[in-house]
Amino acid sequence: MRIRKAVFPVAGLGTRFLPATKASAKEMLPIVDKPLIQYAVQEAISAGAQELIFITGRSKNSIMDHFDKAYELEAELEARNKTKMLETVRDIVPPGVTCIFIRQAEALGLGHAVSCAWPAVGDEDFYVILADDLIDGRLQPALAQMHRVYQQYGTSVLATQRVPKNDVGSYGIVETQPVGPGLSEIRRIVEKPKPEEAPSNLAVVGRYILTPRIFKLIERTPRGAGGEIQLTDAISAMLNEQTVLAYEFEGTRYDCGSKLGYLRANVEFGLKHPELADDFRSYLEGLTAGWNAETPKAAKG
Ligand code: G1P
Repeated sequence: MRIRKAVFPVAGLGTRFLPATKASAKEMLPIVDKPLIQYAVQEAISAGAQELIFITGRSKNSIMDHFDKAYELEAELEARNKTKMLETVRDIVPPGVTCIFIRQAEALGLGHAVSCAWPAVGDEDFYVILADDLIDGRLQPALAQMHRVYQQYGTSVLATQRVPKNDVGSYGIVETQPVGPGLSEIRRIVEKPKPEEAPSNLAVVGRYILTPRIFKLIERTPRGAGGEIQLTDAISAMLNEQTVLAYEFEGTRYDCGSKLGYLRANVEFGLKHPELADDFRSYLEGLTAGWNAETPKAAKG
C-alpha cells in the first residue's frame, strides 16, 4: 500500500510576513538556502509521493517557476562548470516526479483548497502538507513516520503534537482514545477552540493522510471558523464513517507561519548546515558570550 499523491495548499496570503510577502509567496521564504516549499516537497517524496499537486493563487508564480526546468540557468552553470550548483538545481524535482498546479480562485479556507485537488487526486488516499509547518523528524521525516502507521492501519492519519493550553485557539484540537504509544483514535475534532472549550491540548499540525471520502464531505461542509470551509469540519464528519488516527510524530516542528518560529528554524537549520555549521556556531557563541558578559552588569545596575 503506497501513497503516490501529495497536495500542497499554497494559496494563502501570508499577511504575517508583510511586506516580504506582498509580491512573493510565503512558501518561497528560505530556511537558510532552501525555500519552505522545497522542504515540504522533499518530505513528500521521501514518503513515496510521485505526483505533487500545488493549489496556488495569485502572486504564487515563483512556486511554479521553482519546480520548473530552468534552461537558461542550467546552460549557464554547465558552461561555467559549476557542477555542484547544477546538481542542486536539477535535484529539485527528481526524475519520475511530476508537478500539477491548480489555481484556487478564491481563498475560502483549507477545506476548500484541498477540495480543489479532487480532479487530480481522484479515488486514492493522499497526503496533505502545509509548508509553513516545517518538521525536522528525529528518525525519519514526519510523513514517512505517518506512512508507516498508514501501512499498518490503512486509514486516515493526522500528525499531532501537544501544545500549551493557551495556544489551542490556533489549531485543530482532538479528543482521542489511545491505541498504542504515540497513536490514538480520534473521537472528536474542533477547529480553533477557546482554551476553556478545548477537548485536550493535542493539536493537529500540517501533515495529513486522507482517504478520498474527504472530498464528498468537504462538498457538504458549510463555512465554519473564520467564515472559511474548514478541513477540520470535514474530518469531523468523517469520524462518523471511518477511523481517523492521531499520530504524535517524533521530531521538532517549527511554526514558520510565525516570525519567531521562522527565525528559530533558520538558526537551528543553520547550525546543522554542512557548509555553515562551524562558522555559524562560532558566530553565535561570540554573540551569546557578549550577552553573558553584559548580564551581570545589568543585574547589578
Ligand atoms: C490549519 C488548520 C488547523 C491546523 C493548523 C496546523 O490552520 O486549519 O486545524 O491545526 O493548520 O498548522 P491555519 O494554521 O492554516 O490557521
